[in-house]
Amino acid sequence: MDPLSTVKRSAPCGFSFQDLKRGPVLAVTSVSVFFFLIVLRLINEVNFLRLLTCFGQTGSGCAPVSEFQLQAPTHHGGYINIKTREPLHIYCDLCAIVSSSGQMTGQKMGHEIDQSSCIWRMNNSPTKGYSEDVGEKTTVRVVSHTSVPLLLKNPDYFFKETNNTIYVIWGPFRNMREDGKGIVYNMLKRTVEKYSNAKIYITTEKRMDYCDFIFKEETGRDRVQSGSYLSTGWFTLILAIEACNKIHVYGMINDTYCRMEGSRKVPYHYYEPGRFECEEYLLHENAPYGGHRFITEKRVFAKWSKQHNITFTHPNWTV
Ligand SMILES: *[C@@H]1O[C@H](CO)[C@@H](O)[C@H](O)[C@H]1NC(C)=O
Ligand SMILES: *[C@@H]1O[C@H](CO)[C@@H](O)[C@H](O)[C@H]1NC(C)=O
Ligand SMILES: *[C@@H]1O[C@H](CO)[C@@H](O)[C@H](O)[C@H]1NC(C)=O
Repeated sequence: MDPLSTVKRSAPCGFSFQDLKRGPVLAVTSVSVFFFLIVLRLINEVNFLRLLTCFGQTGSGCAPVSEFQLQAPTHHGGYINIKTREPLHIYCDLCAIVSSSGQMTGQKMGHEIDQSSCIWRMNNSPTKGYSEDVGEKTTVRVVSHTSVPLLLKNPDYFFKETNNTIYVIWGPFRNMREDGKGIVYNMLKRTVEKYSNAKIYITTEKRMDYCDFIFKEETGRDRVQSGSYLSTGWFTLILAIEACNKIHVYGMINDTYCRMEGSRKVPYHYYEPGRFECEEYLLHENAPYGGHRFITEKRVFAKWSKQHNITFTHPNWTV
């Protein structure tokens, strides 16, 4: 059970103003209960931030952990190694998160990115041929269930040549179930049978629910009822906030970028010409069904960047 969800869900909200009519004693009790609940809520908020801040333990390329982190859980139980069934162990001082956006083209940030303690990428975004802009190392690759077939087009590269990379795959239960009916799980299972050194983790169903829960907490909207899917960026940020002391995000645009005069028209992905970033963002944001709420998510990221050590550059966010 994720500690955060227990804390948040246990916050009671049964107070009703009808109680005030039942006489002064009840009214006073109700009012104090009301304030007690507010205080409880505030405490929960603090716990929420603390819990989101840093869990983890040392791994390759990782810095010493502070006192608080040493007391915190040493693993990320929401991510399970598909072969060993072990939870994910990772802790990094400075994480570079490299967006797949066309904003990366021509930025020449590869050298700086490669100096970070851990380098995070998403889906099948390549480094070969783009390393001057995006770097060449990859510590963690967060991958959507829909992108797994793209990795499997080049399995020797992803699971043999770069066998130090940790793969974190997210997906809905129907595709990730382990009873033989999960189509993506089955592909991954076959992959670790063939590439025994591959470090592939799947996101547990509980963790998927937790990521939905955070969306609801932050936006007031239910992800499923609003007909949307969370993006790989969302899953990446939530894990990185727990796994990293500091985060530097490269190439992600903010929530106002596409409405701004003089925004650059760049491809949606730096490695795929054709689709354009803002066109995709607006299409998804307004899709009644089946879209990613990229712009809404960026508004939440801006809030998180004030609570955690997260900076966004190329383009710069002024949060
Ligand atoms: C792991 O990656 C290294 C570096 O690319 C490679 O030399 C080695 O053969 C790989 N090991 C396996 C078992 O695939
Ligand atoms: C955040 O990280 C930057 C870059 O390493 C550092 O200069 C700054 O002091 C950090 N801020 C906090 C609040 O930890
Ligand atoms: C959003 O990004 C643009 C482009 O970098 C920047 O000019 C603007 O100040 C940013 N807005 C916020 C709220 O970060």
